[in-house]
Formats: sequence, structure tokens, C-alpha cells
Amino acid sequence: MAQLWGGRFTKETDQLVYDFNASILFDKRLYRQDIRGSIAHVTMLAARKILTEEEKTRIIEGLEGILADLESGRLEITSEYEDIHSFVEAVLTERIGEAGKKLHTGRSRNDQVALDMKLYIRDELTELDLLLKELLDVLLGLMKEHVETYMPGFTHLQKAQPITLSHHLGAYFEMFKRDRGRMHDIYHRMNLCPLGAGALAGTTYPLDREYTASLLGFDGPTLNSIDSVADRDYLIEFLSAMSTVMMHLSRFSEEVILWNSNEYKFVEIDDAYSTGSSIMPQKKNPDIAELVRGKTGRVYGALVSLLTTMKGIPLAYNKDMQEDKEVVFDAIDTTKGCVVLFTGMLRTMKFRKEQMEASAKHGFTNATDAADYLVKHGVPFRDAHGIVGRLVLYCIEKGIALDDMSLEEFREISPVFEADIYEAISMKTCVEMRNTIGAPGKAAMEKVIALEEAYLSGE
Ligand code: ARG
Repeated sequence: MAQLWGGRFTKETDQLVYDFNASILFDKRLYRQDIRGSIAHVTMLAARKILTEEEKTRIIEGLEGILADLESGRLEITSEYEDIHSFVEAVLTERIGEAGKKLHTGRSRNDQVALDMKLYIRDELTELDLLLKELLDVLLGLMKEHVETYMPGFTHLQKAQPITLSHHLGAYFEMFKRDRGRMHDIYHRMNLCPLGAGALAGTTYPLDREYTASLLGFDGPTLNSIDSVADRDYLIEFLSAMSTVMMHLSRFSEEVILWNSNEYKFVEIDDAYSTGSSIMPQKKNPDIAELVRGKTGRVYGALVSLLTTMKGIPLAYNKDMQEDKEVVFDAIDTTKGCVVLFTGMLRTMKFRKEQMEASAKHGFTNATDAADYLVKHGVPFRDAHGIVGRLVLYCIEKGIALDDMSLEEFREISPVFEADIYEAISMKTCVEMRNTIGAPGKAAMEKVIALEEAYLSGE
């Protein structure tokens, strides 16, 4: 048990206490950030003549050696150290001697851990943003391909009006685009450097906080040292943004599961993204979509967990805050994994166009258009609504679609119908008539696709 703070203590820590307190098993994943932060810190200390140039060089070489050895597997992070900060400092001192003991000058683990976590989250925000962009690329490809793939649009899970697959997928495009926007917002709001805040009250050394901030790619230093070590808002924002990503993926998964069912048959999930049953040989299950839907709860759980951890903590740092790590790491791994798998599933999924179009027809999704036809021929809308209602009832009794009725049958219910009714209620016409921006008509959809394309290539 190697501890940084043994001086004041007369007894060894109880082993159970030590284990309970230690964070090395999970914060070891911050080793790159911890070393990067330390290199910036000593660079600034030397610029301020708090360390000599020689001490700086020795420390930086030592830290770079540790990093290289960790990356290559020659050095292993073991649980005999309390946390990643103690580990790096101890190994450094073991390797370079006296100079290593000066690394922590003008710094506390409180501002150090705040920095490490911010550096880590910045990278993860960027990575998640990239993964979301790949998902958007796949979605846009499908949107281009399916501007004339007709399908029912639903309300209350009842077939409502005809749309296209392009239009339906376009809804998800908007959602994931907003998700990316949230990642960018969080990045910019959190991008201030806490290093130099010390334990909570700054330090007596003449640190150059602007300099460290710029060395680490921050927009500047944080402006209150208490807040610097006590703030976990950006983690809560990130968890909230990831929860929203998961909520979107989960809704999409739910649709994929429905669409892949024997009742819908709108899609076929690729064999590589399905699983079988150990007892029922006919089964091909949408496990990936189900797992994505299932894992959503885990990310929401992380959000509620950290909100609850933070709600009663007096300023500034308290050990409760160490609880931020496991939930945040797990939420990041889960969300990234789900985005990647969902993207792969979508890329390889087959869409069954005929089945989608037939479903739109047999669901009377063109009933509104049949009523509009009558209105155009002078029938008041309320009467037209009643007439089409009778048509629908007639079709339900006969088990046919509106399009399957003969002209005589149409005219028996209303003599206003002419031969052009078929054209007026075809799926193509119903969709084509809806051409205001945001609607499924081909011209409107193509305008939107061009805008989305410009958005994706403008990065
Ligand atoms: N492992 C700690 C954490 O994750 C590091 C900060 C420790 N600071 C302290 N004063 N005990 O929060």
C-alpha cells in the first residue's frame, strides 16, 4: 500500500478501508491524461522558475518514458497504488529520484483529477461526435436511395398517411444531428482549465494558469478555484446528452424490431446482426436492436446516479465525487458501443419496398386524399369525410384496399368519383402532393437531402 499522504498518520490503513477508498481499478484509464497534464504543469513551473530547466527536462523525460512503457505493456498499473495520480508520481520518483518529488508543486489531486477528467471527456465528446457522423452518413445514403419507397406513416401505431422511407429515416437524421450539436455545445462550455485551482483556494506559487490552459488546448483558465474542483456539471450534461442519444437509438431499435417481425416484414436484419434460438430452428432474432433498447436504462441510470451523488455535496471537493468515474465510463462505453453496432446493423439491413408499399395501401393511408379529391370537386369536407368513411367500411368488409374498388363501386357510394380517382389516391400522388419543405414529396425531400449533404461535408 503506497500512499502519498502517510506523514500525518501513525497507523497503516485497514485493508478494507484502503480498498474501499482506492480508485485505481477504474481511474487507471486516465493515465494518458494524467501524464499529459503533468507535462504541461512542469513546463509552466519551469517557465515561472519554480523548477529549473534541468528538473523540468528530467521530469518530462521520466513521464514520457512511463507513458511509452504503459502503452507497450512493459509497465503495468497495479492496485498497490491508491489512484492513477499516486501511481504516476511514485513510478516517476522511483525512476528519476529527487526531481520526481517536485512534480506536485503547486498542485493538488483535486485540481489534477478535475483536469484529467476534462481532458478525457473532451476526447470522448469528439469520438462520440465522429461515431454519430458515421451513423448520419449511413442514414443519408439510405435517404437518397429511398425517396420513392412508399410506406405508411403512423400515429398511435395506426397507419395514418403515406410517406417514404427516406422521409421516415430523415426524422432520425434530425435527431442525431441535434445530438451532435449537444456534443459541440458541451465541449465549448466545459473547455476551461481547472489546473492551478489547487485543493480549492489556488496556490501561493506564482503559477501561470493561462499558459497551462493554452498548452492543453483550453480556451482559458476557470475563473473560480472552488468551482474548478467542485464542478461536475459537464459530466451531468454529457450523461444527459448520451441519454438522449440512447433514447433516440432505443426508439429506432423498437421500430426495427417491429419492422423485422413476421407481422410487418418491412426489413430483414442481416444474418451477421441477428441471432438464432437454441430451441426454435425457424427463429432469427433482432438481439442487437433489443440490446440497444435494453442498455438505454443503464445510461439513464448513470445520469440519475451522478445527479444524486452531487445534490448534497457542500463545496468544494468531497470524496463522493470519485463516484463520477465508474458511471461515466460505463455510460460512454455503452453509448459508443450501441452507436457503432446500430450503424452496422442499419448499413446491412434490407428494406422490403413492396411490403412497405402494400402495407400503406391496405391501411387506407390514402383515405385523407380520397376526401380531398371530393373536396376539390365541390363536396364540403365534412360530407367528404363521411363518404370516405363509408368507402373504408365497404373495403374492410370485402378485405380490399381503396385502390382495388371498381369505379362502379366508388360511384355507388358517391357519383362525384371519376376515373381519375385512381391516380389521385395512388401512393405516388399522395406523397408527391406533399411538397412543402419537411414533407415527404420527392422535390421537398431532395431539397432537404441537399441541405443535409452540405451539413455533413461542411466539417
Ligand atoms: N481519486 C480521487 C477522485 O477520483 C482523486 C482526488 C482525490 N483527492 C482527495 N482529496 N482525496 O476523486
